[in-house]
Amino acid sequence: LASVYLDHNASTPLDERVLEAMLPYLTTYHGNASSRHEAGRFARAAIDRAREQVAALVGASPAQVIFTSGGTEANNLVLKGLTLDGPPGRIIVSAIEHPSIRGPAYRLRRSGWEVVDAHTDLNGRVDTARLHQVLEESANSHTRLVSIMMANNETGVVQDIAALAAEVRAFGALMHTDAVQAAGKVPVDFPASDVHAMSLSAHKLNGPKGVGALVVDKSIDLAPLLDGGGQEKGLRGGTENVAGIVGFGMAAEIAMNELEGRRTAMAALRERLEARLSQIPTLVIFGQGAARLPNTVMFAVPGIDGEALVMALNRAGFAVSSGSACSSHENKVSHVLLAMGVAPELAQGSVRVSLGSGNTGAQVEAFVGTLRNEIRRLQAMVASRWA
Ligand SMILES: Cc1ncc(COP(=O)(O)O)c(C=O)c1O
Repeated sequence: LASVYLDHNASTPLDERVLEAMLPYLTTYHGNASSRHEAGRFARAAIDRAREQVAALVGASPAQVIFTSGGTEANNLVLKGLTLDGPPGRIIVSAIEHPSIRGPAYRLRRSGWEVVDAHTDLNGRVDTARLHQVLEESANSHTRLVSIMMANNETGVVQDIAALAAEVRAFGALMHTDAVQAAGKVPVDFPASDVHAMSLSAHKLNGPKGVGALVVDKSIDLAPLLDGGGQEKGLRGGTENVAGIVGFGMAAEIAMNELEGRRTAMAALRERLEARLSQIPTLVIFGQGAARLPNTVMFAVPGIDGEALVMALNRAGFAVSSGSACSSHENKVSHVLLAMGVAPELAQGSVRVSLGSGNTGAQVEAFVGTLRNEIRRLQAMVASRWA
């Protein structure tokens, strides 16, 4: 394994305290939370506690939290669960959404829904004026739902969700935000953001993989994706992943308690990283003019292939990603950068560094030193090909 992990937007290491909280629910407390006996009641109580912890992280009430198998399921649940019943209408999704929003949106198009993209400015922001325009253009056919992510997984650009939600509400539509990357890195407040639904994922905040949540306003009429034994108030059938949910709860509690410290430390580290990066000739940092997550930097060097650079850095002991890790196997140019108006040749070279609370200044210095060498080596290779 590469010894320096700088890919926390792809996934984070499990916090030791989270593992400790989970272990009893994988061994001793193995009951099914639907069972009436004591073992079942133990599992139920653990889920109830975790629901409170996750709700507290985003200032919601526990009754608003529906546990899912992760951010992908939460995103599918909101898009499909709000459009399952009734005639097709119109939905608006931002052009920079994660594939777990854009995928279901495009599937809806096949069943007659009109799907409109909300574009961003050069810094990756969806501004309210632009959204207002899209909503107005669609005023004749009713817009049912708008989905705009709180923070982008590739660039880290953060949107003003409360302002966007106000626009959406003025048009009588529902507003969803994918807060998977924001939660645990910046304050996230469900009531203040004024959205109807919000997606979360445990493994982005030092919790386990395979568990997440959709936080919903009780006023919305959501249909389940999975019918079954009535779990999660009938909105997500299936025996609960008790240990995973317990881990999510503990990770949420730790993230809430340690948010300010982590945020300050991360921002200082990122500032140091960007100061060093800006000394590399021609290197471009994306979204630098916008508010961004404190841990994320996405950059490119013209003429350098991002994938080649990521592989070279991995061999030298540094784990980073090119474009979005979730779609890296498809090896396509980042749709996020293209939507921001970045030229495809430059987007092809994009590399994302996402810091975590375990990273140090020494690691950042070592990373930049190696990066400089690898860029020089790759540039020499390109030059020799043309010689
Ligand atoms: C913005 C965003 N939304 C959703 C997801 C999917 O979450 P999960 O991995 O829990 O399915 C990710 C994961 O990369 C993400 O970055």
